[in-house]
Amino acid sequence: MSASVDDAHVRGHTPVLYHRVLHALKPSAGGRYIDGTIGAGGHSFGILEASSPDGQVLGIDLDPTALELAQDRLAEFGDRVHLRHGSYADLAVFADELGWKTADGLLLDLGVSSMVLDDAKRGFSFRLDGPLDMRFDPTQPTTAADLVNDLSEEELADLIARYGEEPRARHVARAIVEARPLHTTQELAELISRVVRGGRRKIHPATRTFQALRIAVNNELYALETGMDQAIGLLAPGCRIAVISFHSLEDRLVKRIYRRESADCICPPDQIVCTCDHRARLQVITKRPLRPDKSEVEANPRARSARLRVAERIELV
Ligand SMILES: C[S@@+](CC[C@H](N)C(=O)[O-])C[C@H]1O[C@@H](n2cnc3c(N)ncnc32)[C@H](O)[C@@H]1O
Repeated sequence: MSASVDDAHVRGHTPVLYHRVLHALKPSAGGRYIDGTIGAGGHSFGILEASSPDGQVLGIDLDPTALELAQDRLAEFGDRVHLRHGSYADLAVFADELGWKTADGLLLDLGVSSMVLDDAKRGFSFRLDGPLDMRFDPTQPTTAADLVNDLSEEELADLIARYGEEPRARHVARAIVEARPLHTTQELAELISRVVRGGRRKIHPATRTFQALRIAVNNELYALETGMDQAIGLLAPGCRIAVISFHSLEDRLVKRIYRRESADCICPPDQIVCTCDHRARLQVITKRPLRPDKSEVEANPRARSARLRVAERIELV
């Protein structure tokens, strides 16, 4: 099928690295696929189409609004689609409820959808004025405002340094503590702009702190580690996991997990006799991450930092 024909099927916004994801997962009839971050269902549309007439998708999302969009977009596939509200960190439970003992492919697309980023009241964007929220799941109790206003200066500094890799984390934390309570994204973004410069890459001064808060509010690195472990456990031999990340912290974690899971021994390098009993479960397919090409970035500038890493489940010997 030509790119233009299946793009038309995705209707409207083309998901990031769409063709590369489909090429990596190679969906086929009868397959069972897990889309752990189904969003508006763009990638899943392609998976369902390519696995016609009877491939199935278990689609998970923390955001009930995304699930409504996915339901709408994927309605024509009827009972081949199973949508669940929750975290992909629980994907093994959702698969088990469907009676799936194995899966034939898994996708995690870790970005914030444009729909959510452009909605000021969700509080993800430092360019729009809204409440300091940043929850993917609006039913969860903790918001970014809770962290910003309740953590100690030291806890805030650690969080901003660890999850945002912000070199001026301690200055940002001190400025926040002196200025709080803070309630809106603009209050926070302006405060950060007074203590941080954009740096060599000329990113907005608030980029790193907003990333840190988002990761902490949604416990994102825990979800990634747990979800990937469950996914690798569920994948049938010869089937693939594809993860799209949007910043280096996530990408490094994905790379580390792939490296660990493709090694037969994970003992410390200076240990002479292996005692770990670890066995490789994966073969890494993408030695380097796949990036969007120029035309994709021109059409969708937010795709520019996307990196796709793919690995294949191998038989345990
Ligand atoms: C970039 S969007 C996915 C877009 C989707 N691939 C498409 O084609 O429309 C990422 C989605 O992941 C969801 N999300 C983030 N963390 C999650 C988690 N731990 N479990 C489930 N969904 C999550 C967000 O709510 C968002 O809808």
